[in-house]
Amino acid sequence: MAARSTGDEDFHRKVTYCDREYQEHSVRYEIYQVPIDAEEETRLLEQHEMLKLIYTDWNNGLYAPIVGEPEAILDCGFGTGAWAYDVAEYDPNCMVTAIDICPLLAPSDQLENIDFQIANLNHRLDCAEPNTFDLINSRFVASGIAATRWPNYFRDMHRLLKSGGWVQMTEWDLFFRSDSDNSDALQALHEWSRLYTEALGSSTRPEGKKRSRVVQDFEVWMRMAGFINVSTDVRDIPTCAWPQDAHNRSIGEANLTNMKGLIHSLGLYPVTSRRLREIEDFHDLIEAAYAELSDVGAKPYIRLHTTFGMKR
Ligand SMILES: C[S@@+](CC[C@H](N)C(=O)[O-])C[C@H]1O[C@@H](n2cnc3c(N)ncnc32)[C@H](O)[C@@H]1O
Repeated sequence: MAARSTGDEDFHRKVTYCDREYQEHSVRYEIYQVPIDAEEETRLLEQHEMLKLIYTDWNNGLYAPIVGEPEAILDCGFGTGAWAYDVAEYDPNCMVTAIDICPLLAPSDQLENIDFQIANLNHRLDCAEPNTFDLINSRFVASGIAATRWPNYFRDMHRLLKSGGWVQMTEWDLFFRSDSDNSDALQALHEWSRLYTEALGSSTRPEGKKRSRVVQDFEVWMRMAGFINVSTDVRDIPTCAWPQDAHNRSIGEANLTNMKGLIHSLGLYPVTSRRLREIEDFHDLIEAAYAELSDVGAKPYIRLHTTFGMKR
């Protein structure tokens, strides 16, 4: 992947923590404390495929029909680059700009209509002139956005959009629920959410403080930034194969692997480096949470939110 850097920092140096690999720069400055190793890359690629099964009513499972036919697209926090690649392949006439501070390995074939850049979403977005994009996609970046940054993140996206352009913000609401009203069966998962929230909020660096649950505020922040036609698509996604119908059962099956990976990846560094749990205790909690994610009787699920807004 030909990634361009906008600064002098070395974005390629890695550090190992508890057998997981992180970008040294992002960990040191508390920007994004999630692994960027092969394990996380596989999780993100599989999660991307699962999302296409979830959003069967979208264009190729990539963006909602409401967006129209975008010609210029920005992907914020591209990760493996899978969404950017799929969009660029789906419509070879559209130009995709994709930005990230610590990308994971991307698929090897470079497409001519993608421009990958290194940029920190916590800084003013200057990857393009104002009024450039028809669509801005931002998916699963919440663990790297400073708590105080959100309103300006939306303002920046608004500035970069053309009139009539759309923002599409997808995030998990990181709280696990039971469809059989048996939240007692999800105690370890609730403890994970509590610890993760506490860990993200307890950084002493302004950029380090994050919010674990943000989706509830997206519509307000979007309207404050000037977006119109704001709406949210909420879907309940099972965390194991408990649904009756085959389609949702297979989504549940895929999401079990995904959520097992997610709670380990997201929680490990923030929770244990801030000593909210010792590493062994954290792993015990994760083992208990794995059992709960796969408890068919409790019908566990998690909410997936996508909020849309249009620039007037
Ligand atoms: C969980 S991955 C999601 C990747 C991709 N959007 C997807 O849906 O598969 C989050 C990505 O956002 C990036 N990210 C998080 N915070 C960021 C920040 N402050 N600046 C730039 N990139 C950031 C991370 O480096 C990572 O690649």
